[in-house]
Amino acid sequence: MKKSILFAALFVMVAAASAQTFSAVAVDKKDSRMQWWREARFGMFIHWGIYAVPAQGEWYMANANVPREKYAQYAKEFDPTEFNADEWVRIAHDAGMKYLVITSKHHDGFCIFNTKATTYNAVQATPWHKDPLQALSAACRKYGVRFAVYYSIMDWHSPDQGANKPDSVAPVYNPTHFEPGKKQAYIAYMKTQLKELVTQYHPAILWFDGGWMNGWTSEDGKAIYEYSRKLDPKLVINDRAMGAGDYGTPEQQIPANGLPGQDWETCMTINNNWGFNLTDISFKSVADLLHNLIDIASKGGNYLLNVGPTAKGVIPHPEVDRLEAMGRWLKLNGESVYGTTASPFTVQLPWGRCTQKSENLYLQVFDWPKDNKLVVHGIYDKPSLVYLLADKNRAELQFEKEGDSLVINVSSKATDSICSVITLEFKGRPVVYNPPSIVYSLPVFIDTLGVNFETPTKDVEVRYTLDGTRPTMQSPVATREIALTHTTTVFAACFLQGEAVSEPAQVTLVKVSPQPAVEVQNGVRYRYYEGKWDSLPNFGALTPIRQGTLESFVLPPQKALVDYGVVYTGFLSVPQDAVYRFYTASDDGSKLYIGDSLVVNNDYQHGAVEKEGLIALAKGFHPIRVEFFQAAGYDSLSVSYGSSTIKQHFISSKELSFEK
Ligand code: GLC
Repeated sequence: MKKSILFAALFVMVAAASAQTFSAVAVDKKDSRMQWWREARFGMFIHWGIYAVPAQGEWYMANANVPREKYAQYAKEFDPTEFNADEWVRIAHDAGMKYLVITSKHHDGFCIFNTKATTYNAVQATPWHKDPLQALSAACRKYGVRFAVYYSIMDWHSPDQGANKPDSVAPVYNPTHFEPGKKQAYIAYMKTQLKELVTQYHPAILWFDGGWMNGWTSEDGKAIYEYSRKLDPKLVINDRAMGAGDYGTPEQQIPANGLPGQDWETCMTINNNWGFNLTDISFKSVADLLHNLIDIASKGGNYLLNVGPTAKGVIPHPEVDRLEAMGRWLKLNGESVYGTTASPFTVQLPWGRCTQKSENLYLQVFDWPKDNKLVVHGIYDKPSLVYLLADKNRAELQFEKEGDSLVINVSSKATDSICSVITLEFKGRPVVYNPPSIVYSLPVFIDTLGVNFETPTKDVEVRYTLDGTRPTMQSPVATREIALTHTTTVFAACFLQGEAVSEPAQVTLVKVSPQPAVEVQNGVRYRYYEGKWDSLPNFGALTPIRQGTLESFVLPPQKALVDYGVVYTGFLSVPQDAVYRFYTASDDGSKLYIGDSLVVNNDYQHGAVEKEGLIALAKGFHPIRVEFFQAAGYDSLSVSYGSSTIKQHFISSKELSFEK
């Protein structure tokens, strides 16, 4: 396993070396156009369109199956007389948001910008006759907030796209497909609109969506990415056109470990809807929103937080209140968010999060320590200065190095009930040692388990214990694989120059005995009952007089002559997938079940009568149960089966088995 990792690493290095001349240029360019975006960390998403009129979210047209022409009538009611671009951008700016992404055209196809490609737009199709994007992009310039646009590839209104299930009364739109021969026409329409968007409003980002419609391919995505990039080489383009993109867009979730090696942005609703929904009052708390922003920054991503303005053009006040509170926190603590990179710690900090910027570490404390001691494992250098970021006087906090930990005395109160930030300033880039990785195949084993250790950096050695104690300088150094032969708690820590420098990693690996396999034997089990019946009784409710095993379906020994019953159970092995015909010949009644299916019903009092039934069975073992009863006179039972290729024959001992 190790070997293959080594080979993979070598391969990547070789491949990287040969591609260097080309990719170095590409990466450079990307780095420079992404720089502002990487530093921004926090943006405003705005979902706004004529769906704000029915006020049930931006998917209303699809969710309520509204026919195109009927839905288009909402444009006539879209008259946002209270819209104030300056006010919206001021809200974003005061919230500490560095960019704003608005839906120029959502899946419903309605364009809230001035476009020559369709009259289905805010200027021509509404009583308002205005272009909000013009006003917003101007206001963004004024406030120093970057302006950006969302654009949906899927279009429920376009004549070039067809509903998934067309219906004049209740169409099902999602996902749409291109009408035959119309794909190129639609791409031309998109290109016209993208050019209009770029030249009229100079967006910093193109935020594509809806690329999952049928017929749109990653080749189309790549082509539209290239087309857009030519329109403005500085554009940052998300990944939802498919096939190409500058950054990933996890939706409504924060990936546990970020998206290593990729730029990414979590987009999230502030309640449960993107577009305005009158009934949705499930607004996230300020604490949750701030914790999300900080969590995302600590994992190296951006937070695109959505608002859904009303049809009158107002951002609902519960949303504004929350954004204002975030802005207040960022005003004091924004240094720990903007322009930072991901936490250097690979383990989740028990009290909060961490970000870094050149020579500083920022500890974002969600849970203030009750004993006033904040413990941070793995910080190697002593900081030159430690203080609360929000403290104007920067009063120094005392700290000590205790083994691998930095213990900060935080006797002062938390500056903020949601998150207080402690700045650690270092001389030079701080060195952090993470715990080693304990590598094994599975945490549960039967005989022995091989365990290896991997260090995060080469300068350290790993010492380990197998007795549940923390490793010390007296513990053995890990040089090769160790073999565990019993349940063991493994501890491992990194050591440098005679000292532990990391928190120990810990895992308990459990030795188990395998569950015994089922042992089977040929034949069937039987239970013998006595009673006076004229049809098969409910044997389940009766107590058997005797039980045992038999070679096959034969009458049991020591049976009475009259008034008794037998239930046989076992597994029948059939040789192939086939339709089988089963038969019972009995005097008196009998029934044959395979699994829960009654296959032969030969019930009631009678002389020797044969009955049959069909069942299709897959090759292998099937539970079989035969019930039989004898009233008076002779008694007899035989059970047989066959198929189109297997002759009817009595079921033999070899074909039957039961659990021992
Ligand atoms: C989904 C939804 C859409 C929303 C978007 C935001 O793709 O279809 O309504 O605009 O997510 O990420």
